[in-house]
Amino acid sequence: MCGIDQYLEEQSKRFETEFCELLRIPSVSADPACREDIRRAADWVADQFRRMDFATEIIPTAGHPLVYAESTPVEGAPTVLVYGHYDVQPPDPLDEWISPPFEPTRRDGSIFARGATDDKGQMLTHLKSAEAHLAVNGRLPLNLKYLIEGEEEVGSRNLERFIAENTGRLACDCVVISDGSQFAPGRPAIDYGIRGIAYYELRLVGPKRDLHSGSFGGPVTNPANALARMLAALVDRQGKIQVPGFYDDVIPLSDSERQRIAALPFDEAKFMEQIGVTGLSGESGYSALEQRWARPTCDISGLASGYQGEGAKTVLPATATGKFSFRLVPNQDPKEITQALRSMLVELCPPGITMELIDLHGSPGVLIPPDSPYMRAAARAIEHAFGCPPVFTREGGSIPVVVTFHETLRVDTLLLGWGQDDDNTHSPNEKFSLADFHRGIKASARLWTELSDMKSK
Ligand code: BES
Ligand code: ZN
Repeated sequence: MCGIDQYLEEQSKRFETEFCELLRIPSVSADPACREDIRRAADWVADQFRRMDFATEIIPTAGHPLVYAESTPVEGAPTVLVYGHYDVQPPDPLDEWISPPFEPTRRDGSIFARGATDDKGQMLTHLKSAEAHLAVNGRLPLNLKYLIEGEEEVGSRNLERFIAENTGRLACDCVVISDGSQFAPGRPAIDYGIRGIAYYELRLVGPKRDLHSGSFGGPVTNPANALARMLAALVDRQGKIQVPGFYDDVIPLSDSERQRIAALPFDEAKFMEQIGVTGLSGESGYSALEQRWARPTCDISGLASGYQGEGAKTVLPATATGKFSFRLVPNQDPKEITQALRSMLVELCPPGITMELIDLHGSPGVLIPPDSPYMRAAARAIEHAFGCPPVFTREGGSIPVVVTFHETLRVDTLLLGWGQDDDNTHSPNEKFSLADFHRGIKASARLWTELSDMKSK
């Protein structure tokens, strides 16, 4: 066993303890009550870098701070920029957690806590791998820069600007991100594509107060009815999105990619069992994997209107609000989609209702060339740690910063998800397998060695 792998084994318990320390900090970026905790999480991450003698800064933004750190320069060696996030999703619904979200608990070989897989555990793998090189060899084989943000779960609002204003400082040969999933247990993956997103809130306002639905129902437009009709008009029964021009820029899946996706061992029955559904729907003509990875979709994420209490109340509510988003595929432009959506909704909006469409955030999808030397280096590192080569997949979720790296720094990103599909990302009982945590660290440590042999740009 090489010195680094041995060090990782010897230190594995301490790594787990430190991981749990970070998980205890409720760094929920969406919740203003968590401001202090966000700050504590940033401090915790910065402290990890300081202990490795990295040049470390906590950089304030208009929102939550960024942690930026650089290793001691290694002349002539390539430079890798690692991105991750220390913020987490809100833990709701709280009563569905088996153990409390911010009291990390070990069960069945996994650590359960909000942020375990998304992204504290995955992000930490790339810090511990650097620590191992420093401890064993006294130096790193390449230059590492780390950008760890606190606003990923709320759309990375301030990151684009920071990157645009710091292109020189962030210059690198490639970016590495672990903030996603393997294809299946024991089937590590490299993602060569992720979807984009366009997220909206639609607010409808009708009468100036809630009304008796018997006395007023009929001539008075009910905002909840209007919302249901407007949102339902967005997608037809075949799963085709009805916003005019929506598919104009979609690059069709090639036959060869469809064949490759179809050849992956995906068990639809198991998938349904895992999420507890008895059937699947969606866009006709496309498999479940194709829909999740490579086709645009529309999902309502929240509806609010009228009476939500026990029993019945005959009310015609004064307002109705819906939150929904489109997942976009590479080449679709969220700004163009917003324009077309707005015109469509204005037309659909019935008399007696005023509407407001709020564009909450948007970012395009990305495709990454799958045959670059960086990808090959990552494949070798993964094979070393996981004992089998990775499969090449796409990711249905979105990591907006990948587009920014691509467009602003002009570099490719290695998307190396160490999680699993059933890690309950954004759900109650989020977890991260400790085996994956340790394999992730091992793969990352090997990746630094593999990439160090490559020519710097
Ligand atoms: N880690 C996820 C992205 C992800 C999700 C990767 C699922 C792999 C599988 C990330 O933290 C996330 O949730 N991103 C948001 C982005 C949005 C807020 C702009 C997403 O995809 O909803
Ligand atoms: Zn994440």
